[in-house]
Amino acid sequence: MEKSSQIRKLIIAAAVVVLAVLFVGGFAKGKDMMYHLVNRGALGPLTRADIQYQNVDAPMATSNDGTVNANDWKELYPYIVTTMGDNKKNDYVVSYLEQDPYLVNIYEGYGFAKDYGSARGHEYCLEDVSKTQRPHAKANCLTCKTPNMAKLVNDMGVGVYSMSFDEVMSLMEENVSCYTCHGNDAGNAGKITITHSYVQKALGENMAAIDPATLSCGQCHIEYYFTPADSETMMPYHSVAEMTPEAILAYYDSIGFSDWTQESTGAKLLKAQHPEMETFLSGKHAALLNCADCHMPIEQAEDGTVYHSHLLVSPLENETLLSTCAECHGDTDMVQMVHRLQDRVTARETEVGNKLAEFNDALADAVQKKTLSETKLDEVRKIYREAQWFFDFCYVENSEGAHNSELSFHCLDTSEAKIEEGMKLLGN
Ligand code: HEC
Ligand code: HEC
Ligand code: HEC
Ligand code: HEC
Repeated sequence: MEKSSQIRKLIIAAAVVVLAVLFVGGFAKGKDMMYHLVNRGALGPLTRADIQYQNVDAPMATSNDGTVNANDWKELYPYIVTTMGDNKKNDYVVSYLEQDPYLVNIYEGYGFAKDYGSARGHEYCLEDVSKTQRPHAKANCLTCKTPNMAKLVNDMGVGVYSMSFDEVMSLMEENVSCYTCHGNDAGNAGKITITHSYVQKALGENMAAIDPATLSCGQCHIEYYFTPADSETMMPYHSVAEMTPEAILAYYDSIGFSDWTQESTGAKLLKAQHPEMETFLSGKHAALLNCADCHMPIEQAEDGTVYHSHLLVSPLENETLLSTCAECHGDTDMVQMVHRLQDRVTARETEVGNKLAEFNDALADAVQKKTLSETKLDEVRKIYREAQWFFDFCYVENSEGAHNSELSFHCLDTSEAKIEEGMKLLGN
């Protein structure tokens, strides 16, 4: 009796030890093991480890400029080509000018006051740039729309940027496509190649600090400007540390850059573009995830092929991506969590945007009635430029706070403080 109870105790003790080792081991392995425990059960969401990467020679290019296009890759990567084409499904557009009428006032005198709709899928890039009401005399507007523009610049140099829009447009064959993010090297395990030459020019060796999958999007989803000298597309910084709204503003100030001078206020203003990468890189996920992790679900086709879907979706609208959030966010309802955060950011945007429009009116009024000296007006114009920049940096970022809510609120608070400072100088 004694003996068998001792054996039983031993067996239980051994089992406890084994379980403890497994458990501690799980935590020691960290992220990966937690993922399996929380979420995966036996199988769970697919990861990069499930993809069978291939090394194949690039097919013959059928394009006029030597870029291997989506159709050329179709036989080798049917699912990637098809899902990329599915970006056509993302065709929903809202007019920001109707949604937020205060913008008409803020952007007065610039193209965006006439026509400013939300973005849609990559398959509409060339169509949308052709039919926008905003003026575009030069080819540099094509930089972020098509691989054929990147190839032309790579072949012929930066002179291409100042060629006529219509002339270069007639040479363009595809919307954002394989060459944009892989060069002609997509067959080499889908290796990322940065084909937009200004990224290398601006960041140089500091490119290595950014995950290639993130930088592939960061060729376009960034703040950029056209150099006054030769209309070249350029990023306003040289490192990740300089990707803040403060540092970018200081850079534009240092080179005396503005996008337009507003007639009513005489202010030299900046138009932020879509600083998704900059915003993301100072956010909470920067060290943990890349853009593809949240916008390109890993899927399995019926024949068993596992691949990154190239249909770029909102993670909130995709069950596969939502299940990957659980790895770190547990059973939080992510759709609700993100929407709440976006609602707070949007409400604050409306509040500060309306104040900025009032500031704009007050400044225009002071300019018209000459209630202040030119020197004083210039001081207010500079404050207005800054208030507008910080507001815009948040407003135009496409995640509405989801990528980095701290930065969104920081930009809006800074803008508001400058508005108050300027209004005081105007005697309001
Ligand atoms: C906007 C950028 C972009 C475009 C355009 C693009 N890719 Fe990709 N591609 C990526 C990213 C990002 C990954 C994932 C990299 C990673 O694992 O982090 C990827 C992965 C791949 C892979 C590796 C296998 C896999 O499923 O992860 C292949 C092969 C590939 N792409 C082929 C193509 C082909 C062919 C095209 C054109 C039809 C194309 N890509 C267009 C960005 C792009
Ligand atoms: C060559 C430039 C370029 C690259 C590279 C690029 N994009 Fe885009 N992206 C655009 C443009 C331009 C639009 C807007 C198209 C339109 O509205 O006609 C867009 C639109 C989008 C949209 C739709 C936005 C909406 O409001 O519906 C998403 C999502 C997106 N991109 C994600 C990505 C991700 C993720 C990557 C990297 C894997 C990437 N993009 C790489 C230029 C680019
Ligand atoms: C942690 C996940 C995550 C990462 C990583 C991430 N995003 Fe997002 N992104 C989101 C969420 C959440 C939204 C809001 C989606 C919505 O409102 O439906 C969003 C929205 C967007 C949008 C607007 C799309 C739309 O449909 O309105 C674009 C464009 C975008 N992200 C690009 C990027 C780029 C480029 C990167 C990398 C620099 C990136 N994202 C990294 C989660 C992420
Ligand atoms: C690898 C771990 C990890 C994954 C996967 C992950 N997150 Fe996060 N997320 C974090 C961490 C860490 C924070 C910061 C938490 C904090 O500060 O309280 C965070 C914060 C956030 C925030 C708040 C950001 C802000 O700036 O306020 C949002 C929104 C978010 N995550 C959305 C998502 C979505 C959507 C997904 C899935 C598509 C996702 N996350 C996947 C780790 C992760």
